[in-house]
Amino acid sequence: MSDAELTATLPHYPFSFRGDALAPALKQFLVHEPVTRVVTNAGHPGWLVTGYELARDALKDPRLSRSALSDPEMPQEDSGAPPLAVVGTMIMLRRAGLREEAVKGMSPRQQYVPLSRVRAIAEELLDEMTGRGTSGDLVEDFALPWAARVTCELLGLRPAVASEVSAWFGLMATGPIADRRLPTEWPASLDRLATWMDDLAETGLLPRLMQLNDVSPHPLPPVDMLEVAHMLTFSGLGNPAAFLAACVLALARDPKLANRLREQPDLMPLMVKEVYRWAPLLGDSITRIAMEDLVIGDVHVHAGELVMISTDAANHDPAVFAEPERLDIDRDAAPHLRFGHGRHYCPAAALNQLQTEAALDVLLARLPNLRLAAEPPVTWRDHHSVLMPVEVPVHW
Ligand code: HEM
Repeated sequence: MSDAELTATLPHYPFSFRGDALAPALKQFLVHEPVTRVVTNAGHPGWLVTGYELARDALKDPRLSRSALSDPEMPQEDSGAPPLAVVGTMIMLRRAGLREEAVKGMSPRQQYVPLSRVRAIAEELLDEMTGRGTSGDLVEDFALPWAARVTCELLGLRPAVASEVSAWFGLMATGPIADRRLPTEWPASLDRLATWMDDLAETGLLPRLMQLNDVSPHPLPPVDMLEVAHMLTFSGLGNPAAFLAACVLALARDPKLANRLREQPDLMPLMVKEVYRWAPLLGDSITRIAMEDLVIGDVHVHAGELVMISTDAANHDPAVFAEPERLDIDRDAAPHLRFGHGRHYCPAAALNQLQTEAALDVLLARLPNLRLAAEPPVTWRDHHSVLMPVEVPVHW
């Protein structure tokens, strides 16, 4: 069978764009074929890992490389997407001796955007939304601008650019949308960021990294610093906005749960943790290249092959999470894999948890009768690397 014939017979990843239910195909693979062959948007075959333990082991397996993904000769998940910036930028930061400071700046120890500011931003946005009438959209009015403003303050970008940053969510595109938009819009966003880098705020992670870079024995050239800033801006916007949208959708749909959290705000950490597990967030997967032949589950993977890890599926493995489709904040669960595992584990995981808790706390207090509106029904943005509703229409 030729490569083209083989890929034509394979299931096409991703299988769904919904962030409130695991795709039926992923449910099937979890039970019957936890390592399975799929074809990607780029038309390349890859191995999809769905089982919890296999996914966790794959994430920490040093034979599965993330940096090899930047080699254009290797199989890819998407054709139009730019080479994964995140791949190179952490390596760049390490070379310049800046990695530790960057990681600290994404942790709860950072001082650039205290939780009181995170709450104040949420309050301002909800004031604006409620001031406009009796219904609103918690994506455009809340989740997206909240993530953009928090990220700008964390990084030291001027507040005036936050609405432009918010619109960059559309650049987290995959498949045909990426093919169409990214060749021009990705470089344009880099140019735009370059002008903002000339006028950073006095405090923030980027001004701090630039200061340290000036005295580094191996300083990053400006073009690399720009890549780092670009990657951090997209990381701060995309997942946090989509995740907050997933949380608010769950709360707007379940007034009983919302009331329980209003009465017992100390349960909020459990809520956020459970949504990390429950909500599918990946419009793409966590990808690696096998650096040598290896066995994953029952499957022989060859050196140079693409391995895709679905943490969404792993977080719904029925062998680990009873009734995985149920959002249950009382479950005594194994750790979710939302932030990865092993050496690339997300440095902003703990900070994002605290910030999301703060935003939701404000939301529940400010909208005591929060309800999902019947119209328009919730639909999802297709072909984006993180799963985000088009709108979360609510009234209060
Ligand atoms: C809901 C929020 C977030 C989620 C679900 C998330 C998820 C992830 C995941 C799964 C990884 C591992 C990727 C891999 O193994 O290839 C990762 C890595 C990373 N994330 Fe996050 N992230 C979030 C928020 C953030 C934020 C707010 C920032 C920064 C402002 C950030 C910066 C990074 C960086 C720099 C890495 C690369 C770490 C390394 O390779 O050492 N993330 N994130």
